[in-house]
Amino acid sequence: MDFAYIIFVALLVLPICAGQEDDVTPFEVMIRPPLEEDYLDLGESKTYTCGASATSDQVTLKWFINDQEITATSGRVRVEALGNSRYMLRIGSGEDNDGGVYRCEGTLAGQTDSKTINVVVIKPLEIHSDQEQFDILGGEGEVECEVSGKPAPTVTWKFENNTKIEAGEKYTIALNKLIIKDLSLEDTKKYLCDIIVIDTGETKDFYIDFTVVKLPTIALPPTIHPDNPKVGDEVKITCQATGVPPPTYQFKKGDVMVADEMVNNGVLTINPLKTTDQATYTCIATNKGGFAESSNTLDVKVPPTIEDMEETYDAVSGQELTITCTAKGDPEPSVIWKKDGPQSASTDGIVNKGPTYEKVGSNQNDMEEKTVAQHMTFKPVTYQDAGTYICTAFSLVGSANKTVKLTVQYKPNFDTDFKEREFFGWRGHKANLTCQANANPVATIEWYMPDAENPDDYSKAVRIPNEAPYTINMLQKWDGSFLSSRSLHVDIGDETSHYKDFLCEATNVQGTTWQVVTLKEAKPPGSPVISMGNVLTSSITVNIEPPAENNGQPVTEYTYLYYPDGDAAQTNNGQTARTGDKTKLELTGLTSNTPYVVKVKAKNNVGEGEEATVTIPTLKVSKPFRLTIKSPQMSENADSYLLEWEQPDDGGSPIKHFSISYRQVKVKGTDEPGTWKIDGDIDLDPKLKVVPNPSALSTRLDDLDANAFYEIRLWATNEEGDSELTQVLIKTSAGAEGEEEKGEEKVAQGSGKEEGDNEKIEAGQGPNANGSTSAVSEDGAGIGPVGDHSGRLAVNLAALLAPLAMACLLAL
Ligand SMILES: *[C@@H]1O[C@H](CO)[C@@H](O)[C@H](O)[C@H]1NC(C)=O
Ligand SMILES: *[C@@H]1O[C@H](CO)[C@@H](O)[C@H](O)[C@H]1NC(C)=O
Ligand SMILES: *[C@@H]1O[C@H](CO)[C@@H](O)[C@H](O)[C@H]1NC(C)=O
Ligand SMILES: *[C@@H]1O[C@H](CO)[C@@H](O)[C@H](O)[C@H]1NC(C)=O
Repeated sequence: MDFAYIIFVALLVLPICAGQEDDVTPFEVMIRPPLEEDYLDLGESKTYTCGASATSDQVTLKWFINDQEITATSGRVRVEALGNSRYMLRIGSGEDNDGGVYRCEGTLAGQTDSKTINVVVIKPLEIHSDQEQFDILGGEGEVECEVSGKPAPTVTWKFENNTKIEAGEKYTIALNKLIIKDLSLEDTKKYLCDIIVIDTGETKDFYIDFTVVKLPTIALPPTIHPDNPKVGDEVKITCQATGVPPPTYQFKKGDVMVADEMVNNGVLTINPLKTTDQATYTCIATNKGGFAESSNTLDVKVPPTIEDMEETYDAVSGQELTITCTAKGDPEPSVIWKKDGPQSASTDGIVNKGPTYEKVGSNQNDMEEKTVAQHMTFKPVTYQDAGTYICTAFSLVGSANKTVKLTVQYKPNFDTDFKEREFFGWRGHKANLTCQANANPVATIEWYMPDAENPDDYSKAVRIPNEAPYTINMLQKWDGSFLSSRSLHVDIGDETSHYKDFLCEATNVQGTTWQVVTLKEAKPPGSPVISMGNVLTSSITVNIEPPAENNGQPVTEYTYLYYPDGDAAQTNNGQTARTGDKTKLELTGLTSNTPYVVKVKAKNNVGEGEEATVTIPTLKVSKPFRLTIKSPQMSENADSYLLEWEQPDDGGSPIKHFSISYRQVKVKGTDEPGTWKIDGDIDLDPKLKVVPNPSALSTRLDDLDANAFYEIRLWATNEEGDSELTQVLIKTSAGAEGEEEKGEEKVAQGSGKEEGDNEKIEAGQGPNANGSTSAVSEDGAGIGPVGDHSGRLAVNLAALLAPLAMACLLAL
């Protein structure tokens, strides 16, 4: 433009110059240095010289700035002629406003020419923004890159990876700033402000660390640990704030900042806790975006203490007494009184009402230690109140206790464990009347006889002298007890007038109490209650119970006699001590099948009472009773079975031997032995085993099949014959694998085997030898061990069935 202007001017002006080409030499001016534009650094000095094409003192040269002539010849910006036709413009120590278009205009003889130079004052490129910047999450963020300089720099926004940031929905590029919409944490990054000064080529890469900040928030007030901090505890107040970048923490106690050393990572530690630490603590969480605060109050608790008090109280029964327990603490302690040991109820069943309690005083200031007292009032004190009382003060931060011992003086009572008020005596006996008193101090006891006319007026009672027929014992006392006792012995002899009331008088400093006791006449007991117990062929048992009326003295023993009915000449007699409520008298060595007359008398300290009589027949000698099998129905073994039975009843005649007949059978039913029912034969001929030892209680049946059912019949034999059969079904165990086959083989071999222990095994024998099960199994009762002896007196059925088979067997 400037250049074009110069040409334009040059063409317009008709130059007529001296020293030029013949006809018209155009007049020209020129500026040196010959630049259309020049840069002037701040502070720099420059000189521009304007020269005319003709040298003549007719030439007029002028400098203009923005069409304003510069005329100053001194100062920073000044003009100065340099001989003819040269005119200097001097700019000293360039300043910002020195820039502009400078024009030199020359005139010579009506011709005018001018040239310009654009002086640009250069301002160095400066960046005014911080390298670290942040903005708040969620809003609109601004990354600033404020640059200044002349000529004006051009800014391009880029990511760190040098990719240009395009303006759009997310980014807006404004003057000196990049605007980011909807700031999220992902927008935290380095942005590159790429600066170029086109005119000078100056370039700068300005990286800005931009952080999206989440303001600190504190969701919950600071927590205090432990929950109820008490004096001396180590207490931690913990503050938890969120924010990006993570906030740092400080605490204020009231309005005063807490020393940083006490705070670590949001935890304020106070150790040991003092009452003066009680305050409101504020946590301040700060990050570069701002801060948040939250407070909590630290209430310093003080464990309860109990003020000193008297350790012992001595009271007199009937007095009113208040004992006060005063405690303090924070929070206010609960104060309770408790009696040590079991609550004493009076022994006569009247429950002692005990003291009443009343709470008093407590100052209400929530932050201070509170004092509270608990009165324990006895209105009045009774002797049952004596004892040790514990006052306990407790709160959620601790407890304390103190003990008070209360002693009570009281006048005698007869409220003791010794409850006898009736005593018994009898002819020739020395009766022992005893009186026990309870008193503090311990009572003395005297014995009196009521006045015959005024038995209720104890002042008229006559003291009993310690002389025959009376003996008055020494007063008895026990260490550590409030009891005392004293006995009056009355030698009754033949005298029935002793059976009457006596008076016992107990006295101490607190007063006197009377007690009536009665001496009654004891008599021999009534007749005992007798009944028949176990009856056998040679023995009977008689059950004896004491008579309903013992007549004052307990039954101690029984005397008895017995004889065969009608043969009193054969009387036996004896005595047996009473054993509790049921005494068993066993009479042995009796004749079988004989009724015996038994007479029994009860005896107490006074003598024998009336007799009771019963007649009991002994059993006649019989075949042995049916045996009871006690071995289980499931055999432990696969190939044998241990058959066991209970001690047999031999029916009054010694057992000679036991016999067992057994055979394998089919059985239906479940695993429960109770459900087993014979369902067919396997062995048609039962085996027979005889056990000759009359005191045997078991025998082992060998060579059985595994996992097989056997029907076993057992009976005993004595002089009179065979007992009834006892039948049982048993099952052998499965044994190991393959055992079953082996077992079968064993039976096959074993059937001819020699028997041990003199026991014989025969086939096809037995009282019911044809192998039928109908006789016993059909009624069901015969399946399984049959243990009761209910059929004892019944006809021995087996005996009727068996003799023939037995005879055969024994003959072998
Ligand atoms: C450069 O970084 C920006 C933002 O981190 C990303 O969106 C862009 O894809 C990157 N460009 C290249 C070429 O890696
Ligand atoms: C009474 O306090 C003592 C300690 O001072 C303590 O050992 C005892 O267990 C407390 N007794 C009761 C009943 O609380
Ligand atoms: C009299 O009876 C009392 C109370 O049962 C007893 O302690 C004392 O020993 C008896 N005295 C005699 C001599 O039996
Ligand atoms: C043999 O079994 C039959 C029924 O099978 C029975 O009637 C008979 O009484 C049994 N006893 C003898 C000894 O035959």
